[in-house]
Parts: sequence; structure tokens; C-alpha cells
Amino acid sequence: MKKLTIIPLISALVLTAAVGSALGDGHADKDMAAAIKARKAQMTLISHNMGILGGMAKGQIEFDTARASAAAESLASVARLDRSLLWVEGSIQGDVPDTRAKAEIWSDAAGFEKAATGLETAADGLVAVAGQDLAALQAAMKAAGESCGVCHKAYRGPKN
Ligand code: HEC
Repeated sequence: MKKLTIIPLISALVLTAAVGSALGDGHADKDMAAAIKARKAQMTLISHNMGILGGMAKGQIEFDTARASAAAESLASVARLDRSLLWVEGSIQGDVPDTRAKAEIWSDAAGFEKAATGLETAADGLVAVAGQDLAALQAAMKAAGESCGVCHKAYRGPKN
């Protein structure tokens, strides 16, 4: 008699746990997709500001100290978004859709952090010279451009 009451109780508990974890996973997937979208938006903003500065450095856009400073300051701010909210553990290319993030971002977290602070430093370099002259901006753009390449090479996978 005792056995008969325990079995349905166990099944009910197992079922509750299964449903609970399925719902939980769905939520985690949603959070991960949102973080991927957000970090790509960060990269789009980084690109937008780099495009303005690059255009000026190449002489395609007229050099304007106020506009150059605005772009450099925006770049320096956007580069500093809290990385823990964007590079969520497990959001790896091949495991989840719509991302090119390599597993090395997490397995070599110190290297990734170094690459990210490299961009922050390069952006500060742009802020320092954007209000000066074109030659100084061109020199600082070289370092900024390199900081993108360093990180993409190590931590961004091939096109999906
Ligand atoms: C610390 C590493 C790091 C730095 C520094 C970095 N990127 Fe990225 N970038 C990435 C990673 C990783 C991805 C792939 C993100 C994904 O798909 O989830 C990416 C993606 C991008 C994308 C594609 C966004 C999209 O919509 O898919 C652009 C554009 C981009 N980066 C531009 C830049 C530029 C320009 C710079 C330099 C000014 C830069 N990035 C600096 C790591 C970096």
C-alpha cells in the first residue's frame, strides 16, 4: 500500500523537475540570444564611430575636431560596456545560433580581456588627439585598427 502511494509521488516530482528545467533552459536560451544581439550591436556602434574617424583619417570626410572628438568619445564609452553581460558563458559559435564567438573567449579569458582593454586604450588614444590635427589622428587610428584585428583573429570565428 505504501509503495503504491510513493510511486505516483516520485513520478510527480520527476515530472515537475523535468518541466521546470525545460522552462529554465528556454529562459537561458532567450537570455543568451539577447546577449549575442547586444554584443553585436556594441560592435556595430564601434564600427560606426571608427568609420567616421577612418573617413577623416583617409581624407574622405573633412577633418572636424568636434566631430572627431564626439566619435572618439563615443567609441571609448561603448568599448567599456560591461563584458560579463555581453560575453555570456556558453554563447559559442557552433553551439548556439547567430554568433561567431570562439570558445577561446572563455577558455583564454585573460587573453580576451587583454584584447578588449587594448581597444579601450586605443580609443583613449583617439580621444587624446581627435581635437588636435589630422596627422595625430591618423597615427592613433593605426593603433585602433590593429586592436580590432588582434581580437578578431584570436576570438572571432569564420562567417556562419
Ligand atoms: C575584445 C575583442 C574584440 C575587439 C577589441 C573588437 N572586436 Fe569586433 N567582434 C569581436 C567578436 C568576438 C565578434 C563576434 C561576435 C558575435 O558574433 O557574437 C565581433 C564582431 C564584430 C562585428 C560584426 C558584428 C555583427 O553584427 O555581427 C563588427 C562589425 C566588428 N566586430 C567590428 C569591430 C571593430 C571595428 C573593432 C575595432 C575598433 C572591433 N570590432 C574590436 C571581438 C572584438
